[in-house]
Amino acid sequence: MDVLINVFVALHIIGIAALLGGFLTQMKAMGEGTARFTPGMLHGALTMLVTGVALVGLNQADGQPVNNLKVGVKLVVLVVVLALVYVKRDEEAVDKRVFGVVGGLTLVNVLIATLWT
Ligand code: HEM
Repeated sequence: MDVLINVFVALHIIGIAALLGGFLTQMKAMGEGTARFTPGMLHGALTMLVTGVALVGLNQADGQPVNNLKVGVKLVVLVVVLALVYVKRDEEAVDKRVFGVVGGLTLVNVLIATLWT
């Protein structure tokens, strides 16, 4: 079970790499108002959701404690991010404030995941 959980943590981290990488590589474009939500960002956000839910189930099945409040907050923040990216995925130039909110909330989730112990 440990190996399976670690595989899902790895996929979880690949998901955040796709989502956050899409944001960080377009920060200059964001300033110019020409950034867009790439397919990689959408798929990264979806990967976070699927692997996160799977990690909750796998940890519970394995008798490992899960911090439900922490995971719940990460889930709510991610749902907002996913909704924004999904709704605006076809826009060729996303408003810089919307793009910034997605990047900011994603960073918030990274900080929640790493600093909330
Ligand atoms: C962008 C959003 C997210 C980020 C940046 C993120 C980040 C991380 C990171 C870095 C880890 C590994 C470190 C650790 O074990 O504490 C992790 C583990 C985990 N994540 Fe996420 N996560 C996100 C969303 C979610 C969501 C939506 C869920 C559940 C629905 C979730 C559930 C979990 C679980 C259960 C673990 C392993 C158990 C734990 O240690 O808390 N994550 N996450």
